[in-house]
Amino acid sequence: MNMIVKVAARQLVAEDVCAFDLVSADGSRLPSFTAGSHIDVHLPGGPVRQYSICNDPTETHRYSIGVLKAPGSRGGSVGMHRLKEGTTLTISLPRNHFQLSRDAKHSVLVAGGIGITPLLSMAESLARAGDSFELHYCARSSAKLAFMERMKASSFVSRVILHLDDGDAAQRFDAASVLSVANGPATHVYVCGPGGFIDYVLAAARAAGYGEELLHREYFASAIEDTHAEDRPFQIRIASSGEVLQVGTEETALSVLAKHGVDIPTSCEQGVCGTCLTRVLEGRPLHRDMFLTDEEHAANDQFTPCCSRSCSPLLVLDL
Ligand code: FES
Repeated sequence: MNMIVKVAARQLVAEDVCAFDLVSADGSRLPSFTAGSHIDVHLPGGPVRQYSICNDPTETHRYSIGVLKAPGSRGGSVGMHRLKEGTTLTISLPRNHFQLSRDAKHSVLVAGGIGITPLLSMAESLARAGDSFELHYCARSSAKLAFMERMKASSFVSRVILHLDDGDAAQRFDAASVLSVANGPATHVYVCGPGGFIDYVLAAARAAGYGEELLHREYFASAIEDTHAEDRPFQIRIASSGEVLQVGTEETALSVLAKHGVDIPTSCEQGVCGTCLTRVLEGRPLHRDMFLTDEEHAANDQFTPCCSRSCSPLLVLDL
């Protein structure tokens, strides 16, 4: 279900990062959300982008989001930065694929760049509940640190540890040592940021002995925006009918299937949400999503037709 909201406020909160407060267009309360939730934002002109809600989940009058202007953006983040106060937008209801665990005894929140947004909401939630946590915020430089005023004024400021790439070596983020020190019974790790950063933190956590059930991650959409290069055509066969369809360089498997009357549920259309996940019976997908784990990618028995393609000339889909 979608709803109409209005941009009530916009503010530059770091270099290339704009924060927006979205309120209900008719002045009513917004549906509640939990820490780690995101919304789909339908931008004027068509693109749909997902953004984490970063304010305190007890607030019902606004959804705050932070948007990094991605270099070379094809319209998503640049379109967002152009929005003026008073603009109305269609958004989805909040959804949460990045929930806080109820049985955590301690939580280690790790943000890379704009990945701070869902973790801010988590920090508010954990601080309010009196739960034990620490928030590590990594950025290239102090100019890139978003929401600092808010964090300085928060009740959890003493739990925030900053790590700057251009700072001295002693304060740089060393995932192995942070996660070894924090490791204890039911310590959960939450990480959000660019793909490489997430992989680095998860690898360090596994090496430090954390089990998979303690690891939580959220890739942000801008990490995969505008990265498609050298797309080759391939064919898909619909197993139930035997029909073979051609996917051209400028098309997605999803759009070709839709053109031929095969409707697959979608949401983000960027490989983030997993809504379009489709079983693969034969062939080797070229995975471009941020939803499946490395193990799931390696199994090659499912793919996200909204963004993923094929390494083999033909993919047979369980449709
Ligand atoms: Fe979200 Fe495909 S629609 S991953």
